[in-house]
Amino acid sequence: MEENVIPHNFSITKEGRNKLMGHTPILIWFTGLSGSGKSTIANALEKKLFQKDVHTYLLDGDNVRKGLNNNLTFSPEDRTENIRRIAEVAHLMIDAGLVVIASFISPYREDRENVKRIVGYGNFVEVFVNTPIEECERRDVKGLYAKARAGEIENFTGVNAPYEAPMAPDVEIDTTVVSVEDSVALILTEIEKRIKSKLYKVASLSSK
Ligand code: ADX
Repeated sequence: MEENVIPHNFSITKEGRNKLMGHTPILIWFTGLSGSGKSTIANALEKKLFQKDVHTYLLDGDNVRKGLNNNLTFSPEDRTENIRRIAEVAHLMIDAGLVVIASFISPYREDRENVKRIVGYGNFVEVFVNTPIEECERRDVKGLYAKARAGEIENFTGVNAPYEAPMAPDVEIDTTVVSVEDSVALILTEIEKRIKSKLYKVASLSSK
């Protein structure tokens, strides 16, 4: 089937779109346990980038699972498919010129490797929100840890499903030690370091 699909060459190029945007795209991938603070930091990061005229889009587990991925469960196979689809969406958004911020537990190392393969290694920054499970469980903002401990949720990450921590994340944050503001600053420094030569506006992010 796929051999009969021949891509068309369109006139507007990725480079052209990047120039119009005023910066180059990248995917900033947050991984960590439920309640670790991924979405809070991702939100603060997006606000900061937005203020600096960077075109962003935030993809978040709770939202994507209500729409595009509403047919997927939390089984290992479905989580793999969840992350694969998100990676393909992020790839399209990168092609469109956006700075994509993705916040997903993404507990399997192999799935996160696959994201890098799909979007391209040079486009990927991994942020590991390494908040200890005891703290995530103490916060239990959504009451899901209590339910999981009571046996009401199966395959709950950290309770009865695994979380494979990244071996070499680009940024690692323990939210019991680092504030949201400082976390954002750490990530901005990493973005600059990674894509400085390719950037137009974002190169001077932290000085603006
Ligand atoms: S992932 O593992 O496939 O990457 P994803 O980030 O999309 O997960 O969704 C995680 C969110 O779904 C959690 O923040 C939590 O609110 C909710 N959730 C519901 N059931 C589970 C479960 N069994 N394990 C983890 N999170 C769950």
